[in-house]
Amino acid sequence: MCSIIGYHGAKDAAPILVRGLKRMEYRGYDSVGVATHDGGSIQVRRGTGRVNEVNQRAGLDSLSGRTGIGHTRWATHGKVTDANAHPHPSDSGEVAIVHNGVIDNFGEIKAELQGEGYGFKSETDSEVIANLLQKHYQSLGDAKAAVLKTASRLKGHYSFVAMFAGGQLAAVKHHRPLVMGLRGTEFFLSSDVLGFVEHTDDAVYIENGSVVIFDAGKFEITDFEGTPVRYDITKVSKEFGDAYKGDYAHFTLKEICEQPDTIPRAGARTCDAIKDTAARMARAGSTYVTGSGTSYNSALIAKQLFARHAKVEAVIASELRFAPYRMEEGSVLVAISQSGESADVLDAVGIAKKSGCHIVAIVNIMTSTLAREADVTIGMNCGPEIGVAATKSFTSQLAILHRMAAEMGGESGMDWEGVSASVGGILDGRAGIEEIAGRLGGISDIYVLGRGMHHPIAMEASLKLKELAYIHAEGMAGGELKHGPLALMDEDAFVIVINPTDSTHPDTLTTAREIRARGAKIIGVSDSASDVYDYYIRVPKAPDAQYPMLEIIALQLLSYYAALEKETDPDHPRNLAKSVTVK
Ligand code: M6R
Repeated sequence: MCSIIGYHGAKDAAPILVRGLKRMEYRGYDSVGVATHDGGSIQVRRGTGRVNEVNQRAGLDSLSGRTGIGHTRWATHGKVTDANAHPHPSDSGEVAIVHNGVIDNFGEIKAELQGEGYGFKSETDSEVIANLLQKHYQSLGDAKAAVLKTASRLKGHYSFVAMFAGGQLAAVKHHRPLVMGLRGTEFFLSSDVLGFVEHTDDAVYIENGSVVIFDAGKFEITDFEGTPVRYDITKVSKEFGDAYKGDYAHFTLKEICEQPDTIPRAGARTCDAIKDTAARMARAGSTYVTGSGTSYNSALIAKQLFARHAKVEAVIASELRFAPYRMEEGSVLVAISQSGESADVLDAVGIAKKSGCHIVAIVNIMTSTLAREADVTIGMNCGPEIGVAATKSFTSQLAILHRMAAEMGGESGMDWEGVSASVGGILDGRAGIEEIAGRLGGISDIYVLGRGMHHPIAMEASLKLKELAYIHAEGMAGGELKHGPLALMDEDAFVIVINPTDSTHPDTLTTAREIRARGAKIIGVSDSASDVYDYYIRVPKAPDAQYPMLEIIALQLLSYYAALEKETDPDHPRNLAKSVTVK
């Protein structure tokens, strides 16, 4: 997703902005740009490609000036081109902006401004902000008044930062993340605290409907009417400054390998919230569990874990708006999100709130919008997840869901030390998984089968294969094979069969034999070897409830190594973003 950044202070802005953008690369992007104000005019440099490439080509960090803005773009309106990259200067060059989100009424504003003679050079919705600001700046002669008038005209979900020829910097937040960092007379603006945490840990989470104006070393925060608003300074966790790969080739591998530590830690700081939520779900008429992508796959597991103790439904966050039922007042909505910023999840929460639901957030970023919107927040506590593919956050979600289910059933819960040791065993055997991944270099389709709890794991594994290795993968319930997909089984087909020795084992073994009989290749993921598997990934023998966590870690590794085999970039899959802040 787009990242925006701004700096106003006593140092050269450009190198600070470029470093901040590099720290936010994980959010996903296709182009980069920086603009600075050097006391006289605004200069813009930008282009398509990665931060280092564009910096080398265009010298982003050699721009002079102590006020500046920067951006990484994830295309929504208009192709990936230099002209569509941000910052966008206004027609006269007196204003430049960077923007995250979508301006719904940009077409109408653009037509109006074009009618008044304003020129547009990009296909983006963002450029209307620059020209509207210029128009109001020229007529009102004041940056703050121009920003307020512009904000009152824009519809949609957005944040933007603008820089004026007079040297002022301004920011507007309306339903897209924006955080301000403070250090004396230096000010930072960013989509994520990672953009400035190496300079300061004093942050202000800007509220929706707020405007911030920086001028000559001072700042003011107001609402869209220009009335000053209260703000709190939050100390952000220094651990976010530690987001470095260390000795690992990729963040994704580092994060997979952190799981022996992150799983037992999940939810540990929010035990009371887990207990209260379990009690509330047991009492409530209905519980809904929602999320997107990986977090929705966790919701599917939640449904199976909670079903014995509560009336529970799993729903894809973007589908809740279209659900054929009404959520009754007093129901519980459990919203699962690593980032806490997924627009679809926040939308679902908004709908549930209107119906009078109690909102429980399971999030990793405790300062996120979701954490602040929820009645109760349970922290995954797994540290920054920088790889775009969710890995350690998924198993942390599962661990929290298990803790909740154990509370609901009055059970003693899982042996977390045992889980940790088994995960360690899988990681130690990763060379074997890497060897199997070596066979996937020429594969473009794969099927992943599992029954019961292993069905959502098959879905999650197929998501990992798609995003990391660009292999078209289909996760399905094992029993469904003979109802259609069996027609696709021949010598060219590749199937991953998730088959631990629990109650699903005999049926899944039969399915594997049916596949084998058609000549397809099978990767078996199990604690028990079989001659039906062409390739075998061993997971340790464990209590049944632990298998899903162990299987997915083995399959995260398989997907990661398949990505290396296919020479894709596992940390930054094409077209994807870490926080999907648009609907
Ligand atoms: O931050 P969230 O958990 O809300 O993100 C939801 C999805 O966008 C995310 O899980 C996505 O599917 C991952 N890239 C999958 O690896």
